[in-house]
Amino acid sequence: MGAVRFIPPSASTFASQYDALFWFFMLSCGLAFLATSAVMVYFALRYRRGAGRYEKDKGHSHTMVEVLWSMPVLFVVTALFVWGARLYVNAYTPPEDATEIYVTGKQWMWKLQHPSGKREINEMHIPVDTPIKLTMTSEDVIHSFFVPAFRLKRDVLPGRYTSMWFEATEPGEYHLFCAEYCGTEHSRMVGKVVVMGAKQYQDWIRGDESQSGDRLLASVASKLTLPEKEAVAEAADPANDEASADGAPDPSMVAAGETLFQQKACVGCHNQNPGAACPNLHGAWGELHEMQSGELVAFDENYVTESILYPQRKLVKGYPPIMPAFEGQLTQEEISQLIAYIKSLK
Ligand code: CUA
Repeated sequence: MGAVRFIPPSASTFASQYDALFWFFMLSCGLAFLATSAVMVYFALRYRRGAGRYEKDKGHSHTMVEVLWSMPVLFVVTALFVWGARLYVNAYTPPEDATEIYVTGKQWMWKLQHPSGKREINEMHIPVDTPIKLTMTSEDVIHSFFVPAFRLKRDVLPGRYTSMWFEATEPGEYHLFCAEYCGTEHSRMVGKVVVMGAKQYQDWIRGDESQSGDRLLASVASKLTLPEKEAVAEAADPANDEASADGAPDPSMVAAGETLFQQKACVGCHNQNPGAACPNLHGAWGELHEMQSGELVAFDENYVTESILYPQRKLVKGYPPIMPAFEGQLTQEEISQLIAYIKSLK
């Protein structure tokens, strides 16, 4: 048995920053509590009934006293706001070079895919000292991706993408929780994050098949409930995964997306040929585009998803409404692969 922990271990660059803010907050609240309590007790004793200190009509306020107590409070809460806002903005602004991992929440498991194509269930292997960006979505209800040791938590929503980033500082294994009540097995929607040295991570990504693919699925399957088992069986089914049929590793996210882009015939229209009938996707990522309504829309995960599922909702100005809707024809993971591919088109 380890010692009782009042706070989780600190294993990300955010952890010490958030902890500093947390302790500053606790300290200032504690001091405010002590100060008010002390004054209250003092007044209660000094002006108690029968002490003969009650004086009539001395007025109810004293400007100097008001200023003296309110200024430090104003200063402290302003500092808390600025400090917290800076951490918040930083936490939601991933660095450009962050390694992107796609996360899909599903009742009741976490499915992850690395840029190399490697998949995991309820486990996330990452390298130490490397910025990692998580692009997350849900197949069904709202979940919440929570790694206490990284001081990291964000809701994972159906029908849209959210993201967050972090940088792990200590190799080791850490708890991963779902922090949003998402159904009967919510409390078992847990997993682990494995932080590894750069070299071990490369080895892990490259192979060590004993820890990936079907055997990983099999080891996870023994602990699952029936609907989860069905989902795992579906994921392990070679028919759903061309790569595993011949024992080769999964194709990278970008390659899988490119294959889909061809299979679904997107490429027939979204290409770079002069006079193509559809918007050219090369170099489109991250830019603002003008829609037929005149509205400017950012070309990001959420816009791409919406346009794949419901193409007519936001038409790019100057293009006819000819794209078929893919609602119900793609899994959430396939959409993520298409996104990874579209993102790669420079
Ligand atoms: Cu997923 Cu709670």
